[in-house]
Amino acid sequence: MEGKLGRNDLCWCNSGKKYKKCHEAFDSKIDSFRRKGVRVPGRNIIKTPEQIALIEESAKINIEILDYVADHIKEGISTQEIDEWVYNITTKHGAIPAPLNYEGFPKSVCTSVNDVVCHGIPSKDMILMDGDIINVDASTNLNGYFSDSSRMFCIGNVSDEDRKLVEVAKKSIEVGLDKVKPWGYLGDVGQAINDFVKSNGYSVVREIGGHGVGLAFHEDPWVSYVSKKGTGMIMAPGLMFTIEPMINMGKHNIFIDEEDDWTVYTEDGLPSAQWEVQLVVTEDGYKIISY
Ligand code: MF3
Ligand code: CO
Repeated sequence: MEGKLGRNDLCWCNSGKKYKKCHEAFDSKIDSFRRKGVRVPGRNIIKTPEQIALIEESAKINIEILDYVADHIKEGISTQEIDEWVYNITTKHGAIPAPLNYEGFPKSVCTSVNDVVCHGIPSKDMILMDGDIINVDASTNLNGYFSDSSRMFCIGNVSDEDRKLVEVAKKSIEVGLDKVKPWGYLGDVGQAINDFVKSNGYSVVREIGGHGVGLAFHEDPWVSYVSKKGTGMIMAPGLMFTIEPMINMGKHNIFIDEEDDWTVYTEDGLPSAQWEVQLVVTEDGYKIISY
């Protein structure tokens, strides 16, 4: 239970409005879910319009980064070069690449090629070759406001098989977005994605998922893609999170590189693909923040 406000007190969200004209109805809805034993977001992860505007400034940079990568990525470049693009664009805007030094991550962006599921570390020794598929995952911290999204890129002549994997991963984002509804269950998103991916003969990574984001790089809720509909946190308006399922062509099993403690690989060596969107739940649906 969070602090009780009088109806004529100023709202907790700093809107300057009276509580009764602002979040009172919201809070009573939250309380009714909570009384039923349903998971609800705390006020600390519900974003105000002012916060959303500042997070969108961060996202502009994140989108510029991914657009730049889309225009310049090609066979023969190293993933280290991508890291340099990301660092330069981010710092030019006075922002910080969120991955840099995050829990010891050594670079500004994650670059995950072929059987790397996620958290690939850029390297001058990793040269992109004809037929590669790569995820570039950018995250930006502008004045303490965080954005996070990623895209896949196909290098040269990618096999039909791999191209289909990339497309299904992208389509799975739309399938998930379709389930984002104010006051719906977050588990609906994961179940829809999992069902869709399975129907294409692929599997979804279980151990790593999406997350709340905005006022920190990673916040509640954790967003699983092996969740069940009608379970999980209630998607209250103002909740901001990522949808970023990792789709494996073969089995869902993964392992982490023992040397660098970051790079996640598929256990069977088959490729994996991932797109990531950051969104905020609104009164009538959702708004995409970064993609
Ligand atoms: N961008 C990743 C995500 O989507 C986070 C990777 S953590 C890092 O959550 F340190 F590797 F950047
Ligand atoms: Co993320």
